[in-house]
Amino acid sequence: MTPQEIKQVNKTARKVALVTGGAIRLGRAIALELARTGFDVAVNYHRSAAFAYATAAAITALGARVVTIRADVAKPAEARRLVAETVRRLGRLDLLVNNAGVFWRTPWDTVTPADFDRFIAVNVKGAFFCSQAAARAMGRRGGRIINLADVGAERPWPGYIPYAISKAGVVMLTRGLAAALAPRIQVNAVGPGAVLLPEDFPHESKRRLRAKIPMGRLGHPDDVAAAVRFFATCPDYITGQILYVDGGATAV
Ligand SMILES: NC(=O)c1ccc[n+]([C@@H]2O[C@H](COP(=O)([O-])OP(=O)(O)OC[C@H]3O[C@@H](n4cnc5c(N)ncnc54)[C@H](OP(=O)(O)O)[C@@H]3O)[C@@H](O)[C@H]2O)c1
Repeated sequence: MTPQEIKQVNKTARKVALVTGGAIRLGRAIALELARTGFDVAVNYHRSAAFAYATAAAITALGARVVTIRADVAKPAEARRLVAETVRRLGRLDLLVNNAGVFWRTPWDTVTPADFDRFIAVNVKGAFFCSQAAARAMGRRGGRIINLADVGAERPWPGYIPYAISKAGVVMLTRGLAAALAPRIQVNAVGPGAVLLPEDFPHESKRRLRAKIPMGRLGHPDDVAAAVRFFATCPDYITGQILYVDGGATAV
């Protein structure tokens, strides 16, 4: 192929998105929405192999190319391999969605150093080192990074301090990388409110949570996926922004 022909192929090639933790729950909804938007998708998983294959089958049914890649994003070497494998198998990388995260209740007097380390390792370092590898792989063509923050980055929750600190870290990571990577790469974050609660979340706490949301309901995964689609397709002048998808919870 002549350089002109190669340029033409690159121009017409479909864009590629990598979604970390894309097998289940919000990650799955985001991966499917990006496939509907016209992206080919790399679905990263850590433990949920069977769910990753099911998500991949649903993406194939939408007519997009898809690969599943197992990696622990908390390990920087695996984050680098994840990005490299995405590019090797799908040909390029245009969008990284840092969705993988860990969340559990940690009352302040029972938090252990291991709890703290895990929140930071997955939620902050995982997102950072995936972004570092992705920004290198995107090269001169540039691209986008979208992080999953949380309203907990803005509002103190006494039972979840290390998690909330990690998500406050994701907010600053978003702003810092937006500044560092402009104008080549836009970096934004979606901050869900209560969408899919852990299965063991107490019924009464759920009711009280819902009562505080102006929209009167919990969020739906598609609400979050629509916000991700917005940042994936919006004008490139929008960068370093945090969009809370919380039914108005942070507005009151
Ligand atoms: N659900 C909500 O209402 C809500 C609200 C606010 C913010 N968020 C944020 O939105 C994102 C998704 O939420 P979710 O509730 O769908 O999450 P989730 O159910 O807790 O699922 C976590 C996802 O992260 C992946 N993951 C965890 N550790 C990983 C690691 N070391 N390496 C690679 N992947 C890893 C899991 O993969 P495997 O299952 O394959 O191990 C899974 O796909 C998270 O960042 C969360 O903090 C969610």
